[in-house]
Amino acid sequence: MAKTEDLFKKVIAHAKEYGFIFPSSEIYDGLSAVYDYGQNGVELKKNIRDYWWRAMVQLNENIVGIDAAIFMHPTTWKASGHVDAFNDPLIDNKDSKKRYRADVLVEDYVAKLDEKIEKEVAKAQKRFGEAFDLEQFLATNPRVLEYKQRGQEILSRLAKSLETDNLADVKALIEELEIADPETGSRNWTDVKQFNLMFGTKIGASADASMDLYLRPETAQGIFVNFLNVQKSGRMKIPFGIAQTGKAFRNEIVARQFIFRMREFEQMEMQFFIKPGTQQQWYDYWKQTRLAWHLSLGLGEENYRFHPHEKLAHYADAACDIEFRFPFGFKELEGIHSRTNFDLGNHEKYSGRKLQYFDPETNESYTPYVLETSIGLDRMFLAIFSNALQEETLESGDTRTLLKLPFVLAPTKVAVLPLLKRDGLPEKAEEIVNELKYYFTVAYDEKDAVGRRYRRQDAVGTPFCITVDHQTLEDNTVTLRHRDTMEQQRIAIPELQAVIAKEVDMNQWLRRLGR
Ligand code: GAP
Repeated sequence: MAKTEDLFKKVIAHAKEYGFIFPSSEIYDGLSAVYDYGQNGVELKKNIRDYWWRAMVQLNENIVGIDAAIFMHPTTWKASGHVDAFNDPLIDNKDSKKRYRADVLVEDYVAKLDEKIEKEVAKAQKRFGEAFDLEQFLATNPRVLEYKQRGQEILSRLAKSLETDNLADVKALIEELEIADPETGSRNWTDVKQFNLMFGTKIGASADASMDLYLRPETAQGIFVNFLNVQKSGRMKIPFGIAQTGKAFRNEIVARQFIFRMREFEQMEMQFFIKPGTQQQWYDYWKQTRLAWHLSLGLGEENYRFHPHEKLAHYADAACDIEFRFPFGFKELEGIHSRTNFDLGNHEKYSGRKLQYFDPETNESYTPYVLETSIGLDRMFLAIFSNALQEETLESGDTRTLLKLPFVLAPTKVAVLPLLKRDGLPEKAEEIVNELKYYFTVAYDEKDAVGRRYRRQDAVGTPFCITVDHQTLEDNTVTLRHRDTMEQQRIAIPELQAVIAKEVDMNQWLRRLGR
């Protein structure tokens, strides 16, 4: 446990030290669960957003993008169900005065059972060596089966209590499991209450004429209310999708774990409009397609898993998460939701407008069903960043801190380093920068010994370093250093652009998605 906490602390410290993420308004001691992206963070975040956008919108001819406003007519949130049902169950500890999400306390308890299973697996693996059969072990080991069954029983009871709004039973569950305040160990709990997560605000200059608004808690509703505008103006035929990225706001009861759960965050969502009855087929399709997108980044297949929802959101008939192994365990990274015609149907009811699709083949109109993929951009950032941060021991015994980002996402693709600050080397290096900057994000660094400069670039994840030395002036070649292997090759300057592009260019990476 201490080890994972240490690792996570390192992630947070590294993000700050190297200009990725700063606490918001830090000179005033910060604002809880709000963060700013620095000069490297903004590039990494933009690259993740672009990789998502281009995979979604550019590679699918039946998906288009929009950018809806954050402010929406307040009835939107009545129709979407957020005014009545976008609640989290909260519980206070009477001794520590700390506030928690009651469901998260129970889920954390079950996560500990999962950890016990992982420990049993590790022990058995050690004992049986090569002969170890994971599937058989998970299906037959009595201890594993007991933990699994216990976890399932707890989660289904929690889901049932939440679905029926039986908050007394949620509290009873916490007491029966003897769950204590994680910070103080106290078990002196209040009753469980519902808490609406939307931030309210007002629009308009005078108090009488002002209107109560909400900051959007998801970007999806901006897509639903524009369904007909896009369908008609784009002459879209079902099935088709509308994609959007943008800020969302939630007054989270407990916002913690750095940028994992924030009060202001960014989502990348896609609503896919389909014929009723085809939702299972599209649910399976988007589960696989989204997983393939994740795997294309090379963070390791073993770090992902699907987690079907026990408690379905108020709009869904099937839903699952793609979970990622964060430094604090497997947690939700992305949601795939079969939303039926709940949203369009309700917007029809509340607005009095028809939001239907006329199918020219069957000559019938219907309210489309919707398959949604929804991922948090900040959470994806954390997944990539925490996975990439590594301490490597070199053959020489030295260590280096390496941010092993997928090349396509690295904030800076190449750094150009003159070996010395004289003899015309800086001028030659500037020439190279001035050519490559039209293709890539390029850094120039002439300060300190070259070894230290390499380390600085390793720590921000730059895939390539180009070193300009005296030989460069004679034969127009440079050394090209590869971040991961630290290998150096001598290469002619005119070849640089093509060699680097092959590795870092987003077009190449998108091709690997295989569509
Ligand atoms: N439109 C559906 C929707 O919003 P969600 O599961 O509530 O579904 C989707 O959110 C994704 O948004 C999550 O999988 C997560 O990646 C991200 N997300 C949700 N709340 C967040 C928060 N407070 N901070 C950061 N990311 C969040």
